[in-house]
Amino acid sequence: VLEAQSAWRAEMERQPVDFLDRRIEGLLADARARVGPFLRADPEGLVFVPNATTAVSTVLRGIGLAEGDEVVMTDHAYPAVLNAVGTTCAAVGARRVIVPVPLPLPGPGAIVEGIAAGITARARLVIVDHVTSPTAAILPVEPVVAACRARGVPVLVDAAHVPGMLDVDVDGLGADFWTGNFHKWMCAPKGAGALVVAPAWRDRLRPLVTSHEHLRSFHARFDWTGTDDPTAVLSVPAAIDFLDGLGLERLRAHNHQLALYGREAVAHALGADRLVPDDATGSMSLVPLPEGVATTRDGAHALKARLYDAERIEVPFGPWNGRCYVRLSAQVYNHPAEYDRLARALSRALG
Ligand SMILES: Cc1ncc(COP(=O)(O)O)c(C=O)c1O
Repeated sequence: VLEAQSAWRAEMERQPVDFLDRRIEGLLADARARVGPFLRADPEGLVFVPNATTAVSTVLRGIGLAEGDEVVMTDHAYPAVLNAVGTTCAAVGARRVIVPVPLPLPGPGAIVEGIAAGITARARLVIVDHVTSPTAAILPVEPVVAACRARGVPVLVDAAHVPGMLDVDVDGLGADFWTGNFHKWMCAPKGAGALVVAPAWRDRLRPLVTSHEHLRSFHARFDWTGTDDPTAVLSVPAAIDFLDGLGLERLRAHNHQLALYGREAVAHALGADRLVPDDATGSMSLVPLPEGVATTRDGAHALKARLYDAERIEVPFGPWNGRCYVRLSAQVYNHPAEYDRLARALSRALG
């Protein structure tokens, strides 16, 4: 995939004016035509963005939040998204409503009920994560989207981790907004994300950056937001081909099994509980550290650095609601012995 990106970059730099002036809109349309069917999203509603963070702020700015409005999300949301909602709401006098979802993770019915209970008549947007970042849990996005639609409240599905990890049917989901990254589980170059927008919003939504094409079509104004390197996005079809070549279903099943294997190895070594059911686990799994260990952001960073310096193991630790968790990822290049080694290293570090 990186070779494909290098080839795109060489082609761009050979004649940058031709590439960025005359060809780019056609090239991005070709990429959308490949990416849309992969996500089962109509390419008409799909634009490329550098990342999910950008997509979330684009939506927050685009929905016209006003004083007294509410934006509803869960306490499993990505910290940067919590910040984005917090600052956007504060700027206009709107309110961020954070619905708690406990661990151990309850069943889908209780999760949906909890989120629905947070939706008042003042709600202007609900944000729900498909795969949560701090807790590695798959949330029941289909019934959450249905509950929002039943109440007439727009919904944004933050599916940053989903492409490549889970099978996805974006149009079938029927959310107003959906965002996902290709630079995570799809192994695409950094700077490749998508924002899918329902028909009713396409005329209204503007990119965060105002540029030449601001008054043109939905695609045109998102395609050009200033001179940039579009080669990450243009390489997404190569990433799709690469993962298709491995067999996406086989890959997902392998990663899921390995994430569960890792969780068992580490949880066993630490005597830890399993907090996310197997069927709410994708290619990432979660293990709680003992109570009181690394419960601050600094403490978690220090533990991460210690494991990397002493063992050359790169693994994230994150404090969440007063407890620190280690999040395990499993990709095609990982193997069970790595999780066994992590389990030994962690019991040494915490022992
Ligand atoms: C749920 C969620 N949302 C948003 C993001 C942000 O992704 P990016 O850094 O590509 O903007 C992440 C990144 O891990 C995430 O897990």
